[in-house]
Amino acid sequence: MSEFINGLRAIVGDRHAVTRKDALKRFTEELRGRYQSDCMGVVFPGSTEEVSRVIRFCAAHGMAMVPQGGNTGAMGGTVSTPEQLIVNLQRLDRIVEVDRVNQTMTVQAGCILANIQEAAKDAGLLFPLSLGAQGSCQIGGNIATNAGGINVLQYGNTRDLVLGIEVVLADGRVWQGLNRLRKNNTGYDLRHLFIGSEGTLGIITAAVLKLFPYPGGRIVSLIGVETVSAALELMVSMKSASSDRLTSFELMSQRSVETAVTHMAQQRNPFDRFYPWYILAVVDSTEPDPQLRSRIETALEQAWTDSIVRDAVIAESESQSARLMLLREDIVEAQKFLGGSIKHDVAVPISCVPDFMDSAYRAIRDYMPEAIPYPYGHLGDGNLHFNITQPPNMDREVFLGHWKTINTLVHDIAHHYHGSFSAEHGIGITKLDEMEKYKSETELDLLRDIKSLFDPHGILNPGKVIR
Ligand code: MLT
Ligand code: ZN
Repeated sequence: MSEFINGLRAIVGDRHAVTRKDALKRFTEELRGRYQSDCMGVVFPGSTEEVSRVIRFCAAHGMAMVPQGGNTGAMGGTVSTPEQLIVNLQRLDRIVEVDRVNQTMTVQAGCILANIQEAAKDAGLLFPLSLGAQGSCQIGGNIATNAGGINVLQYGNTRDLVLGIEVVLADGRVWQGLNRLRKNNTGYDLRHLFIGSEGTLGIITAAVLKLFPYPGGRIVSLIGVETVSAALELMVSMKSASSDRLTSFELMSQRSVETAVTHMAQQRNPFDRFYPWYILAVVDSTEPDPQLRSRIETALEQAWTDSIVRDAVIAESESQSARLMLLREDIVEAQKFLGGSIKHDVAVPISCVPDFMDSAYRAIRDYMPEAIPYPYGHLGDGNLHFNITQPPNMDREVFLGHWKTINTLVHDIAHHYHGSFSAEHGIGITKLDEMEKYKSETELDLLRDIKSLFDPHGILNPGKVIR
């Protein structure tokens, strides 16, 4: 094995191939602590050419590789075994070009998402992908997992934000697909095969990203409603009042808001009582727009008159906007104060969300009456994190032992409403069974054929996405 590591060191340099156990921990630790991960080492190539040479070298030695960005994925997509090599892209962290006129940015795969957002802002532009891990996740990982986040409603998923990619294939060849064109209608679009493939078809080393005008005007409101149906009524009227400029329409349950207010030091109850559901709504415009603001106010007043809305606050300043947005971030963190939590990332057609919610609440009540639903999510996209928190008197591990059964209850209901068992977090190793359960034999056959075409010897992130 030391001969193998020496071979890698000859490619990337001595300092950039690590095998010391204590140094590996950061790369094998898994976000949710659900899986034991280990590896034979981590290699940090410093260029596309080095990635290519590493892959060729590994292919020649039959060594399986696990490509890795910021290691912030939630589905175990970068979990490795002691026989596998992690290929971490963090040294590929250069913003290559910002093109103001083309409104594109060319980046290497290891760029941290927040740095990309900053670079776009410095050019007066916006890269709209925004999610909790943005301070440490890398764009290569975002692309490989087709990450979602809170701005999908207006700008789409990562898939919609990527014009081109550069990929190193399983045999070391480089596919130079750094397309900067808005229109390029030339047959099969390989880019879309690699996006969301979680490193199972190739290693993404660079990308061309779409940029947008920076929203200099932002209207953030927090709204209390009685039912999810009322929230959807409100969404329809806010879309229309804002001329479809709704960037985020995020749902939070009473339980999640109460928990954040109780446990997160910076949180206060935004109203003088709690409501069954909350909406965080964000409307963006290129410039501050008083007329837009007054149309939003009118829509909210009308919704209050029509008993759709129970209470609402519109932020008066940037700092108040930031405070309201922090509530949405904090409910995720606050969950852990209630103990173990079984997570979901489902999507259903937006109009089916109320029925999905009713059915899912009922199913949990029937299965484990003391368990506590803790739903929140991207209502504007029909994407719900219908998470379940442990009964207060149950042992955490005993509760987590019900993970699979509770997942099945919730996923079956999403499926019943023609929904998805994984809306934005991907598959990794966590949802392999669901792939087999909910996808047709025809689709699975095609997916397996694609995998074996791109990676015939199964050396790229084996065992992820598809078995
Ligand atoms: C979110 O929407 O906050 C995240 O996708 C939730 C999560 O990480 O479970
Ligand atoms: Zn989410």
